[in-house]
Amino acid sequence: MTTGFVRKGGALQCDGVPLAKIARDHGTPAWIYSHGVLEARYREFVAAFEGLDPTVCYALKANSNQAVIATFARMGAGADIVSAGELARALHAGVAPGKIVFAGVGKTEDEMAFALDSGILQFNVESEPELEALARVARRKGKTAPVALRVNPDVDAKTHKKITTGKTENKFGIEIPRARALALAARKLKGVRIEALSTHIGSQITDVTPYRAAFARMAALGGELRAAGVPMTRLDFGGGLGVVYRDETPPDLGAYARAVKSAIAGTGFDLILEPGRWLVADAGALLAKVVYVKHGSAKRFAILDAAMSELIRPTLYEAWMPIEPVRARKGAKRPYDVVGPVCESGDYFAHDRPLPPLEAGDLVVVRQAGAYGAVMSSTYNARPLAPELLVRKGKTAVVRPRQTLESLIDADRLAPWQSRR
Ligand code: LLP
Repeated sequence: MTTGFVRKGGALQCDGVPLAKIARDHGTPAWIYSHGVLEARYREFVAAFEGLDPTVCYALKANSNQAVIATFARMGAGADIVSAGELARALHAGVAPGKIVFAGVGKTEDEMAFALDSGILQFNVESEPELEALARVARRKGKTAPVALRVNPDVDAKTHKKITTGKTENKFGIEIPRARALALAARKLKGVRIEALSTHIGSQITDVTPYRAAFARMAALGGELRAAGVPMTRLDFGGGLGVVYRDETPPDLGAYARAVKSAIAGTGFDLILEPGRWLVADAGALLAKVVYVKHGSAKRFAILDAAMSELIRPTLYEAWMPIEPVRARKGAKRPYDVVGPVCESGDYFAHDRPLPPLEAGDLVVVRQAGAYGAVMSSTYNARPLAPELLVRKGKTAVVRPRQTLESLIDADRLAPWQSRR
């Protein structure tokens, strides 16, 4: 059986289950994940780095559903986390603590304590004050925290401005001269041991050149620090490998792997990678129904039952996401504005998108939505969170039920002075 989203007799299915059946059984909007694609992607990723034996720390932020994390954890993956919540999610899904790296510019002391108690692999420290705080928390516990200094290599990843992270004007990481000074000074700091360098230059990267520059700077600095007596054992090259949404030409996995290999081969350092989007984007789709087709003098609107509250990428990053009907009607393609019901003009999936004729009741999918989809959704306009469904070999499992209106409202309380009337 073909895995992923494929057409059979003109109708889209996922891992053998027709999307129309999923809509009948579970309603819309709904997130659909192909178990087959998740597994295939992970396998392919690991195979590309054969010989280097990297610790693959799946970046949970891309999709932190327990079923998704467990899929990778059972194949041997670690996790890249950025909060106590993600740490709890990773541990609960069975990720080995010794394969967890903790990134982020604003870790609180409580989060540090939780991670120290859990025995994670490393803290990716992003500033001098953070290193001091971590040392304090560790000393209080009589522990030594394993640290990777997150280096900002000052390279331009040439991606959307909101997801580029490796330039000095971005809040992430420590500039190379400061990282060098900090690593040397920290040799005497009790409570922390700097044993790695990490970097992450951005997301949805479609050019291998900035990677090469960043990795070379990391390897050089790592070697230099090790020679100066810093007990360096590994390099963490982050994530960021782009996928195809429209007509991008991201480096293929092989080209990316060659860039990694040429920087690390012969250094003696162990390798950590933090892929997110590349592992999950293609495995997921957002299934929605057309509620109305509305004709204006300038535009033809397809109004879906899904909205920016489910998938915010188009309006937040001007992201182009592939959209297709589950079963295409006959007729010439015409431009549609594909929008949601939320009361904002920014609530759209596409502008002037050529699509086959659409009618109310038709099912459509937004593809490549497995990454940064459900995790970024909200309940804006009091819209309950959509369900997440995992499909494998003809079977569908609800891995997150649709939120009920009761649970939406039950999260709130009246103040004690507001008696119920
Ligand atoms: N490691 C670190 C430290 C990160 O900050 C990120 C993503 C990753 C790994 C994983 O990157 P990936 O392989 O997924 O590109 N919401 C945005 C993407 C934000 C990415 C943030 N950091 C979007 O929808 O495009």
